[in-house]
Amino acid sequence: MNESHTVNAHGASIPALGFGTFELLDTDAYRMVRAALGIGYRHIDTAQLYRNEQAVGRAVADSGLAREDIFITTKVWVDRFSAAELRQSVVESLQRLNMQYVDLLLLHWPSRSVPLEQTLATLNAVKRDGWARHVGVSNFTTVLINQAVDLSESVLVNNQVEYHPLLNQDKVLACLRQHGMSLTAYSPLANGEVFADPVLQRIAAVHNKNAGQVALRWLIQQQGVIAIPRSSSETHAQSNFDIFDFQLSTEEMLELNQLTRQNRRTINPAGLAPDWD
Ligand SMILES: NC(=O)c1ccc[n+]([C@@H]2O[C@H](COP(=O)([O-])OP(=O)(O)OC[C@H]3O[C@@H](n4cnc5c(N)ncnc54)[C@H](OP(=O)(O)O)[C@@H]3O)[C@@H](O)[C@H]2O)c1
Repeated sequence: MNESHTVNAHGASIPALGFGTFELLDTDAYRMVRAALGIGYRHIDTAQLYRNEQAVGRAVADSGLAREDIFITTKVWVDRFSAAELRQSVVESLQRLNMQYVDLLLLHWPSRSVPLEQTLATLNAVKRDGWARHVGVSNFTTVLINQAVDLSESVLVNNQVEYHPLLNQDKVLACLRQHGMSLTAYSPLANGEVFADPVLQRIAAVHNKNAGQVALRWLIQQQGVIAIPRSSSETHAQSNFDIFDFQLSTEEMLELNQLTRQNRRTINPAGLAPDWD
């Protein structure tokens, strides 16, 4: 992370703290994205699966902020990975978002039915058409990342995976750094579980912060890592954003690295999840 709190990967400049929108629907999605933009978030994470692209788009439009000042990520759902479907799905996403382009377009999960080579070719074509500034993947393991990098014509800038102090991602992170790619940490609060952790609580007390703020700070203090916490509460969204006025020491970072040995994965859908590292 640098002074402006952005992560740079192959020309993409990604705000290190974004706002996640999974499970926020309609009025909640609109209300919380408006609130997040008001708080200062400049990176919004959505997906075709979340069924809230329209609400996200309206919130961005009504925010009064310039489109180019906000980093928007969306993700293509796995049932639309064939060439024609992928293109059409992005047209529909852009229509719902009411935008000319997204900043980052990700393949939401690896597919077991459509060959990666084919999906990446279409993803690249969509980028060439100007519908996505940057492209990447999500829920890819080291094996899949290496394959994707080999197969993709343009650079992949990001892999979005679950990552928080209760889950180790050393292998994935090392692989991404080797390729100059960034890692977006989803479920960065372990879906709320980090708040109960005694080590996080103890370190938080030292800094007059809460356990969630320490978890988020630990993530964005790592090179190439972005975090996208979600909340349905404006107070929580504000709290999650208040992480730029303190720093974790090297010793604290190392102590939190040890916590990841617990390997508590919260998202592991049968039929979709790959053979994790
Ligand atoms: N690529 C993928 O496959 C994938 C998978 C999962 C998630 N994601 C993305 O990552 C985002 C974040 O992950 P997530 O939504 O699974 O989980 P998360 O951000 O780790 O946790 C969200 C939970 O934490 C609570 N919370 C948030 N801030 C809090 C605070 N300050 N104090 C107390 N509780 C707090 C929320 O409750 P309240 O609403 O009450 O605040 C909610 O229950 C998603 O929204 C989505 O954009 C991507």
